[in-house]
Amino acid sequence: MSESMSQEVFSGNFTQQEPIPEDAIAAAVAVMQSGRLHRYNVALEELGEAALLEQEFAAITGAKFCLAVASGGYAMGCALRALGVKPGDKVLTNAFTLAPVPGAIASVGAVPVFVGVTEGLVIDLDDLAAKADQADVLMLSHMRGHIADMDALMAICDAQNIKVIEDCAHTMGGGWRGVASGRHGVMACYSTQTYKHVNSGEGGFLISDDEEAMARAIILSGSYMLYERHAAAPAPEVFERVKYHTPNVSGRMDNLRAAILRPQLRKLDQQVAAWNARHDVVLQGLRGTPGLQVVERPDGEEYVGSSIQFLLLDWSEAKINEVLRRCGARGVELKWFGGAEPVAFTSRYDSWRYAPSEAMPKTDRILKGIVDMRIPLTFSIEDCEMLARIVKSEVSAVYQAE
Ligand SMILES: Cc1ncc(COP(=O)(O)O)c(C=O)c1O
Repeated sequence: MSESMSQEVFSGNFTQQEPIPEDAIAAAVAVMQSGRLHRYNVALEELGEAALLEQEFAAITGAKFCLAVASGGYAMGCALRALGVKPGDKVLTNAFTLAPVPGAIASVGAVPVFVGVTEGLVIDLDDLAAKADQADVLMLSHMRGHIADMDALMAICDAQNIKVIEDCAHTMGGGWRGVASGRHGVMACYSTQTYKHVNSGEGGFLISDDEEAMARAIILSGSYMLYERHAAAPAPEVFERVKYHTPNVSGRMDNLRAAILRPQLRKLDQQVAAWNARHDVVLQGLRGTPGLQVVERPDGEEYVGSSIQFLLLDWSEAKINEVLRRCGARGVELKWFGGAEPVAFTSRYDSWRYAPSEAMPKTDRILKGIVDMRIPLTFSIEDCEMLARIVKSEVSAVYQAE
């Protein structure tokens, strides 16, 4: 590599998302002009933006029912309540995930049981099988878009009657062997927060084919008994069965955010292709870096490369920090999941001190080595080539230094 190339500095912004598309802005302005921002503030027989959005997301995923809500975190708490998880119940979940996941479990008074992570950054199915008798529900986080072998996972869960809720915050648009991510479990949750695959600032979805669970979720979300104004909901008689026993825990989506999301959903496939083109360029560029292990994806995984992870396995804390520092000095923002203190969005299971956990040495070794980089679509393919060159040169330099 030439001297000048080793000195290149990246000037892109890792938190800069694309602008909201013009047609979405126009739809948002129309909602504001109407004054009808609340999802149930619609004329008789009229379907508002929120109801139409639910209908469209149900069609995209192939789910029978869809509910749009205030956030991905709300969707997870709502799904747990809708499935009857009670205070004191245990809920299996990933040791490698982000704070909103154990947080949703804690929000219903339940207790997370953490399941380990593999070098493929998916839930460890052996550990899941070993812990399967401890809970009736698995909150499965497809963390950073890594999807476990869903056929094997569902075989373990079905054998133990474990209900699976999928956290698809990082897999909207992805899938496993032709099945959309979120269609294996009884319910699935998505986020439409700014850093996810569609952007409404805040927001989320819940999908399911289970009519009672979805009727409960709609009432939980704050439907004020106006559930007949939904277009991707179970029949009214299902609500009759659950409505007197389901509390209102408001967390609705509004028409303004729904209007912003509908045009973005129509472009989702195109966005996924753009992310994967960028992700794959970074991945190829990182291959062969001494001391760095890329995360291989299994056949059958249909991923969305909106971020990339790699492993610096068995590196000292000092050396990992040196890589982060050197890359940072060249404009490349890396996040380390292994740090002792939770920073920004990064967390690991022993950071959540409200949730008891047993030590998991195999998982700890992997968590200590996970480095993460966002890939916003405002980066070009050439940007991604440069990012890989910078990371490769700095990791190599630190690895080879005494
Ligand atoms: C893995 C994961 N699950 C769930 C969520 C929750 O989404 P929201 O921020 O919309 O509550 C996030 C958000 O960062 C996340 O990263």
